[in-house]
Amino acid sequence: MTGEAGDYSRRDWGAHPALVHPDYKSTVLRGPKKPLVVTPQTLSELTGPVFGHESVGELDHDLTRNGAVNGEPMGERIIVEGRLLDENDRPVRNSLIEIWQANAAGRYIHKWDQHDAPLDPNFFGSGRCVTDEDGRYRFMTVKPGAYPWGNHHNAWRPAHIHLSVFGPSLMTRLVTQMYFPGDPLLPLDPIYNGARPGARELLISKFSIGLTEPGYALGYEFDIVLRGRKATPMEAGR
Ligand SMILES: [Fe+2]
Repeated sequence: MTGEAGDYSRRDWGAHPALVHPDYKSTVLRGPKKPLVVTPQTLSELTGPVFGHESVGELDHDLTRNGAVNGEPMGERIIVEGRLLDENDRPVRNSLIEIWQANAAGRYIHKWDQHDAPLDPNFFGSGRCVTDEDGRYRFMTVKPGAYPWGNHHNAWRPAHIHLSVFGPSLMTRLVTQMYFPGDPLLPLDPIYNGARPGARELLISKFSIGLTEPGYALGYEFDIVLRGRKATPMEAGR
C-alpha cells in the first residue's frame, strides 16, 4: 500500500524530551553522541509501503478479547479513546495506531521482563486500530499495573500505555506513552519528567464519565496532537 505524497516539516525537537536524559539512565548509552543527520525526503520515503491497514482485524482494538484463551483478562476494564489531530485541531484520518502495555499485575509478555508478577494467560498486551473520518481511535483494555525497573533504587514506572502512530509512510512513525490521572508515581518518573513542564501534563489521559460505559468499564480520553503548542511529547525511535 502506498501513502499520499506530501511534504513534511522538520520535527520541532524542543517540544520533545531530550535524546540523552541522564536521569533516564539507558538514554546515556543509546542516545546519539553526534548531531543528527537529516535524511532527505524523496518520493520513496514519502510514498513507501506502510503497514497494511486493510489487515487490521475486528478484535485488534480489543485487548480484553484479542488474547483470550479461556476467559477474560484479570484487572479493571477500561476504554481508551481519543483523536489524532494536527496543530490546527484538524483530524488526521486513516492512521494506524498501535498500543502495547503491561497486564494488570505490571508484567509484559517478553523474555526480558522477569518482574515477579503473574502473566495473564488471557492477555496479550497489544492492539491496533485505524483512525476514522473524525481522527478518532478507540481501544478496550485493562488498566496496566505499575512495575519496577532498574533505573535507580526503588524505581517504579507509573501505569502507562505505549502508543505508536504511523503516518502515510514508514518514515512517519511517532511513539509516546499515555499515563493516568492522579498517579502518585508520576512526579518520581524520569521518563515522564523527561518531557518539559507544561508539555508532560499532555501525556496524562483524562477520566471521562462520558466515555465510561455503565456496568462495564471506565473511560479515559487521550488526544494525540502531532505538532504545535499542544503537541504530544514523543520519544525518539522506540
Ligand atoms: Fe512500559
